[in-house]
Formats: sequence, C-alpha cells, structure tokens
Amino acid sequence: MGALSLRNVRKSFGPTTVIHDVSFDIKDGGFTVFVGPSGCGKSTLLRMICGLESVSAGDVVIDGAVVNDIPAARRGLAMVFQSYALYPHMTVYENMAFGLENIATPQAEIERRVGEAARMLKLDTYLQRKPTALSGGQRQRVAIGRAIVREPKIFLFDEPLSNLDAELRVGMRAELTALHRRLATTMIYVTHDQVEAMTMADTIVVLRAGRVEQVGAPLDLYNNPANVFVAGFIGSPRMNLLPATISGVADGMALIEIPGFAPFATNACASASRVGENVTIGIRPEHVLIEHGEAAWTLGGAVCGIEQLGGLSYVRLESPDMTVQIAGQTGLHLSDTVRLTLPPRAIHLFDHDGAAMPRSAAP
Ligand SMILES: Nc1ncnc2c1ncn2[C@@H]1O[C@H](COP(=O)(O)OP(=O)(O)O)[C@@H](O)[C@H]1O
Ligand SMILES: [Mg+2]
Repeated sequence: MGALSLRNVRKSFGPTTVIHDVSFDIKDGGFTVFVGPSGCGKSTLLRMICGLESVSAGDVVIDGAVVNDIPAARRGLAMVFQSYALYPHMTVYENMAFGLENIATPQAEIERRVGEAARMLKLDTYLQRKPTALSGGQRQRVAIGRAIVREPKIFLFDEPLSNLDAELRVGMRAELTALHRRLATTMIYVTHDQVEAMTMADTIVVLRAGRVEQVGAPLDLYNNPANVFVAGFIGSPRMNLLPATISGVADGMALIEIPGFAPFATNACASASRVGENVTIGIRPEHVLIEHGEAAWTLGGAVCGIEQLGGLSYVRLESPDMTVQIAGQTGLHLSDTVRLTLPPRAIHLFDHDGAAMPRSAAP
C-alpha cells in the first residue's frame, strides 16, 4: 500500500510561508508528478512527505495514518535526489546494501534484493565498481537501486534526471516509467520540466508559489487548463495568450475583441453583465488556422519568424504576438502578410482573475 493525502499542509520558514495549505490525494500505485517553476516549493513538499522537514500546519497521511510525528526512517518511503549522494569509497554493491545493513537485514536477503535491483537496472556487471568509474546515468541508476532495495511503500524522486544530458534523460524517463509498471509502487516525481511531467505522469499536480494550481491527468490539463498559469505552463510551444475584451454576448457566448481587430465569436459562456470585462484569450499554436493573404480580415499580421523542423513548422507573428504550428513544411516567408482564423471551439477564455470561463459543448 502507498496512498498519500496532504491535508492543509503548510510550511513556513520563520515569517515566510512557502507552502500554503496544500491538500490533495494520491492513490496507491500511481505515478504522480509535481511540476512547477523553480522555487515554487516542490522539494519542500517532497521533504515534508518524506519526513526530512516538519510541517508547520496540517497533516501528512500515509495509508490512512497521520505521520507528522513519525521520523523519516520509519515512514517506509525512499527518496532519490538530483545529486546522486553515493558514497565514493564504496562499491556499487556496498552503496546499495548499506541502508539494509544499517537495519540489520540478513545477509542472504541483502544479496537477493541487491541482485534483483541490479538486474532490473542493468547494473549487474558493475557491482564491484566505485561510483567514480561510472557514467552519470549509471550513478543515477545506483541511487535508484538503493531506493528499490528498501522496498518502500512510496518512491519520492526529486528532479533525478536534471544532471543528465538530454538524450540520456529521455532514455531514463522511459526506464523509470517501465520500472513503475513493473513494481506497481506509488511514485511521486518532482520536476520543473513540463515535458517530463506530460510524458511520465498519470496524475500531474501543478504548483506555483506554494499553491496547487490544478491536479489532473496530463491531457486534462492540456485540454482544459483551469487558469492562465496552467495554460501557459503546460504545452510547448506555449499556448498563445492575448489580452482581449468581451465586446458582446450572442446566444450566451462571449464575443471577443483583441485591440486593433474586429470582434469574433468564441464558445465561452458569458452573461451580458460581463460586456467590457478585460479577459485573456488562449489558443494553442496547432489550433490557429493561417493562410497567406492581405485584405481586411478579422485577425492577421506579418510573419516575423519561421522555424522549419521538417515534420512541422512554427510561424511567429509580432502583432498580435502569436505562434502558429503548421503540420509539415510551410511556403510562407518572413514579412509575408497572413490571415488567421481562431476556431471558436479551440479558444480558451480566462476571466479578469485568470480563471478559465466555462465553455459550451456546442460548436
Ligand atoms: N531551509 C529553508 N529556509 C528558508 N527558505 C527555504 C528553505 N528551503 C526552501 N526555502 C524556500 O522555499 C521556497 C521553495 O523552495 P523549494 O521547495 O526548494 O522549491 P523548488 O524545489 O520548487 O525549486 C523557495 O523560495 C526557497 O527559497
Ligand atoms: Mg527543488
């Protein structure tokens, strides 16, 4: 078992509160990713779950029991850090066995667990090496192996791949998700990298400045961001976000005006009382329709940048400030004038406070 709940968990360092009454539930066996910009409190949250840091208020609940006063060593969790924190004078085997020897595990059991973890992590031929004779990826595997042999209820990973080069990171991501499938143990993984979150998580917790912005499955967050922050954070290139005004309401849906352009329809629900409200319009780069052409058009501009990646292309406009993704290659050139169409169904509208406005299911 490895279910976790946080109930109004707060952390203050002196007068500064860095985690504000955070609550959520993680079900047993899931792969949950905490994602958010550097400094938003991801490590602090993980350290409170682990027991390396006390909570200032609220409860950390593991499998139904409040563990606030249980020391880290007795919570049955294992943490893997970005810095591998291996003992340089010990071999790979000794590094993995050390924690088990400390709690007087029988020798045969230590050998069995280390052997199994080493096979799982393809470290079996390196067991007698010292960490200095290993690559970065191998060292990180040893750190993961050291966690596996403890057979924890929950694995906690704090940006474990950040020190690896890009190619190795992609490989290790796949290895970790495979490991999760194999062990079926709850894993909580912290990263500032939204691509890592999207590719690894079954549930993402988006954090910002010590608060939870949204919890959901990766594509739920992508398709229905709850606010401007999540909209801009999840997805690369990021969602186009432009200041706009509600200029009218037709059939219960907001008409929108971007300064300098004619009003156009959305399928965001709004009442007439909202006319005049300053809002933010959001649309993903792949949802904007673009065509070459002058003339009066609802929305358009001049091309100020083109990135041809072969399989897809990005066209950038300066005003309005937008990125358009095109499947395949584009015949557009710098300074070409283009017309844009924003399909109402693809438009996200965020109110004055940045919260997503409900959308009608109708086209
Ligand atoms: N021991 C500490 N004392 C004071 N402030 C701290 C301490 N640890 C972390 N913080 C502050 O808490 C905030 C969150 O830090 P952290 O959890 O490390 O963020 P993240 O892991 O998301 O980058 C930061 O503003 C950081 O400066
Ligand atoms: Mg951190």
